[in-house]
Amino acid sequence: MQTRRIGTRQVSAIGLGAMPMSVREENDAEQARATIAEALERGVTLVDTADAYSRDEAEFGHNEDLVARVLRDLGRDDVLVATKGGHTRSGTDWELDGSRDHLHRACRASLQRLGVEQIDLYQHHRPDPAVPYAESIGALKELHDEGLIAAAGLSNADPDQIREAHGILGDALVAVQNQFSPAFRSSQPEIDLCEELGLAFLAWSPLGGMSDASSLGTTWSAFAEVADKHRVSPQQVCLAWELSLSPAVIPIPGASRPASVADSADAVHLVLDDEDLARLSA
Ligand SMILES: NC(=O)c1ccc[n+]([C@@H]2O[C@H](COP(=O)([O-])OP(=O)(O)OC[C@H]3O[C@@H](n4cnc5c(N)ncnc54)[C@H](OP(=O)(O)O)[C@@H]3O)[C@@H](O)[C@H]2O)c1
Repeated sequence: MQTRRIGTRQVSAIGLGAMPMSVREENDAEQARATIAEALERGVTLVDTADAYSRDEAEFGHNEDLVARVLRDLGRDDVLVATKGGHTRSGTDWELDGSRDHLHRACRASLQRLGVEQIDLYQHHRPDPAVPYAESIGALKELHDEGLIAAAGLSNADPDQIREAHGILGDALVAVQNQFSPAFRSSQPEIDLCEELGLAFLAWSPLGGMSDASSLGTTWSAFAEVADKHRVSPQQVCLAWELSLSPAVIPIPGASRPASVADSADAVHLVLDDEDLARLSA
């Protein structure tokens, strides 16, 4: 499996987004277990979760519990688990709390659910307009100084916020997780900045999101054409294209079925030529 660097850790170039296993109306625990197992079997060593990945407020923490239980059962402590804090749930709504106190509480609750003494990568989920960004990022710095998190990440941050956070966190900052897909290419400045600062760029919803991923080839015909040429899926082409954009990029396609993650993980073996890449980037 091709690898990429997140701070001092080498991880698979394709990660697994675990969100689809916890947020849908129907959550199938056995299928989720099989999906994570399949990902690991294919060489995936990065799993992305968040405390807020659940159907609703009552199930808050569902996805962290699930990921931790499956990794424990499989005896895999070599997988980098990236989680997030800063979102809250109210009923089925998603809300924000970027306050220092909330992030301290949230991180400790995530440590408990993940069953570890230190979180591999703790990401601030989304800037909270009601809280100065420096306060939220300052909380991550404190968590790092306390040894509760091995490394810090940002999510949904713009270039100014990335530079501000880098000033506060220094080397403790190792990754930025922003949206990037054929339909959402406006994160290129953040990818460039990550490359400049030596940070990993985790691309979320890299296939266009849970409801649009299956129609990627219909919406974006160039991806279907290149897929036909290589006899692979348009989704696999999409992930290989994203990998080609920068050594900083690590797509984290979501999956709730083993077949999806098996196909996505194989994107690391797909070699696209210059003509393919020009077509896809056009
Ligand atoms: N930081 C943030 O604010 C934020 C926001 C959203 C998401 N995320 C993270 O990013 C991850 C990925 O985003 P996402 O799940 O929203 O969207 P996505 O990765 O673009 O799409 C996910 C869907 O794609 C399908 N899929 C995966 N691989 C496939 C393949 N090779 N062929 C066909 N279909 C395939 C899966 O279907 P099945 O479910 O049927 O397997 C899954 O439901 C999330 O899981 C989460 O970890 C972060």
